[in-house]
Formats: sequence, structure tokens, C-alpha cells
Amino acid sequence: MERTYLMVKPDGVQRNLIGEIVSRFEKKGFQLVGAKLMQVSKETAELHYGEHKERPFFGELVDFITSSPVFAMVWEGENVIATARQMMGATNPKDSAPGTIRGEFAATVGKNIIHGSDSPESAEREIGIFFKENELVEYSKLI
Ligand code: CMP
Repeated sequence: MERTYLMVKPDGVQRNLIGEIVSRFEKKGFQLVGAKLMQVSKETAELHYGEHKERPFFGELVDFITSSPVFAMVWEGENVIATARQMMGATNPKDSAPGTIRGEFAATVGKNIIHGSDSPESAEREIGIFFKENELVEYSKLI
């Protein structure tokens, strides 16, 4: 079963959007297999956002994600990576459709509420950065 890494960013946590966001993925039918409220270290942030290292906003991105707690999650389900990205909406809130998380709650590209893995490779890498194997649960199949 496919898994993805989703993270409510500091702006989403401070605006009390954890419940709203978790609820959307629960209602969609995905299963939460890991979650924790945590403070991201500079080292972890730089590792997570490594692909953006050369971008002019890299420093800002690391400062923001380490500025206050995030809510880190692993979700599981069929096509969860692509579906979660659709539910999140476009990275830049000026382009995110109404009804999506960013379309409803975000106004700027820097503070866009939520992060989600963009491919199976990213999902595996990001889950490994934020979670140990024994922090993830397994559900028995529904009969
Ligand atoms: P995220 O999905 O977490 O992955 C990379 C992040 O970089 C992205 O969300 C945006 O929040 C952020 N980002 C992209 N473009 C800019 C920008 N021009 N200025 C600041 N942050 C940006």
C-alpha cells in the first residue's frame, strides 16, 4: 500500500488547522499510520529541503520550518501521494483551487500551510527523515 509524508507547517499549527487537515484525509478514506507534533532541527530541515539548496529562498524556508512546531504525519492508501497533492492544491496559493487546503487557508507561497511528498521516491526519503520504523503502525485488514 502506498504511503506519503505530510506535514502541517508552523503556520498551519499556529492557526489551529491540524484537526481540519487530519479530518480531510480521514474523511477521504486514507489511514493515518504515524503522527507527531515536533520541533524540526536545522539539520533535519536542511536534509528535508535539500533539493532546494540552491534556491534563493532556501534560508527563508529553513528558518520558517524550524521557527515553531510542525505536525508530521504518514498517511497510507491507494494513490495517496497524488491524491494528497490534489487535496493540498498548488504550491503557490495564488494558483490553488478553491476547496483545496491551500486554496482555502493559505495566501502566500512561503506560508502555505502544508507539505506533501511529490513522488514515491520523495515519500520514502521524507518518511525516513522524520519517522523511525517503530513509530509507524499497521492496521489489520477490514473484513
Ligand atoms: P513545500 O511543498 O514545503 O516545498 C518547498 C517549499 O518552498 C514550498 O512548499 C514553498 O512553501 C516554498 N517556496 C516555494 N517558492 C518559494 C518562494 N518563492 N519563496 C519562499 N518559499 C517558497
